[in-house]
Amino acid sequence: MTTRVAIIGAGPSGLLLGQLLARQGIANVILERKSGEYVLGRIRAGVLEQGMVDLLREAGVSERMDAEGLPHDGFELAFDNRRVRVDLAGHTGGKRVMIYGQTEVTRDLMAAREAEGGISYYEADAVTPHDLETDAPYVTFTHAGESYRLDCAYVAGCDGYHGVSRRSIPEERLKTFERVYPFGWLGMLSDTPPVTDELIYARHDRGFALCSMRSESRSRYYVQVGLEEKVEDWSDERFWDELKRRLPDEVAAQLVTGPSLEKSIAPLRSFVVEPMQYGRLFLVGDAAHIVPPTGAKGLNLAASDVNTLYRLLLKVFREGRTDLIERYSSTCLKRIWKAERFSWWMTSMLHRFSDEEDFEARMQLAELDYLTGSEAGLTTIAENYVGLPYETLE
Ligand code: APR
Ligand code: PHB
Repeated sequence: MTTRVAIIGAGPSGLLLGQLLARQGIANVILERKSGEYVLGRIRAGVLEQGMVDLLREAGVSERMDAEGLPHDGFELAFDNRRVRVDLAGHTGGKRVMIYGQTEVTRDLMAAREAEGGISYYEADAVTPHDLETDAPYVTFTHAGESYRLDCAYVAGCDGYHGVSRRSIPEERLKTFERVYPFGWLGMLSDTPPVTDELIYARHDRGFALCSMRSESRSRYYVQVGLEEKVEDWSDERFWDELKRRLPDEVAAQLVTGPSLEKSIAPLRSFVVEPMQYGRLFLVGDAAHIVPPTGAKGLNLAASDVNTLYRLLLKVFREGRTDLIERYSSTCLKRIWKAERFSWWMTSMLHRFSDEEDFEARMQLAELDYLTGSEAGLTTIAENYVGLPYETLE
């Protein structure tokens, strides 16, 4: 089998890249380890930056997002039993974000690919890239008991943090940057109306809490928990009680509770690998970098990598410009490090880090009080939250 771009992984990165390329007539094949159902069962992020919204429109998969997504002009920071609104639009010349679940983005992309007859192998095993440093790389895999070889011009490693792509690069060629945080987020999804119209990021002495949503009738809430915590130990009642304790009183009083649809714990990590390319292999999204979710940047960074790789591949296949693609990694990393910084900073300012943190707690409160009382502070938060501009190629 031969194609132009072999895409490993059918998360949002792989599916979006495949869709953009297919619309330009650039052949690609997606290889995914899990089933489509499994991929759609994962509950992930829900805030899309304007850049990602525009890219989904360009990919022709925005119809449902435009109809059902919730545009948000602001969000709230809560601390010290107070609430302060960050006016995103007001501090960024009218930019906003779109609330639309990653699961729904994935569903729309899968449907578009199926409708257009794009080739995807779900439940593909032993996916292995070869000869990446030559101009004739290929990927081998097995599917339904058969062995396959996929010849291609380029390989896009869109297979997430645990994927095979990054591991295919010799260790001595990569430098890894990492910070593991001493806590995780326990998330809960419920068919209850969101407590307010906008998201609330709350700092509290008991730990961080986040009020988010998927629609006007579906809420997504999170509380910071210790790494030793188990989901089984968190009844719905215990979750709601803990959430209420961490929110300003007037917010807690309005919270509508109900049975959970899903609960899960995710650890928090900052991670970047440099460079993001090795010969004809390009790492995209979570395969190359992870951010703690506090800045809502993970999915959006994946989209900006896709944007860069897509435009560079267009240069290759349309204009024969194979020189520019060498800049993939350095182009992406500029934006990635800024989003890493913002995510780390938001995490540091809003979470409880240790039991003996009197000084740290005062520093966090002073920082929040200062930032939210300053136009410069609010602008800093707003312009990072809506997303920094995509890097130009030349
Ligand atoms: N072979 C084939 N597919 C694989 C392999 C493998 N060896 N390993 C992993 N995969 C698949 C996974 O099953 C998954 O479907 O690759 C996909 C990777 O998807 P994601 O982990 O969602 O990563 P990505 O597409 O980069 O999405 C961006 O950023 O912060 C996050 O929530 C955000 O998940 C989102 C991610
Ligand atoms: C979510 O809705 O899942 C969500 C929203 C904002 C974040 C992280 C997660 O910062």
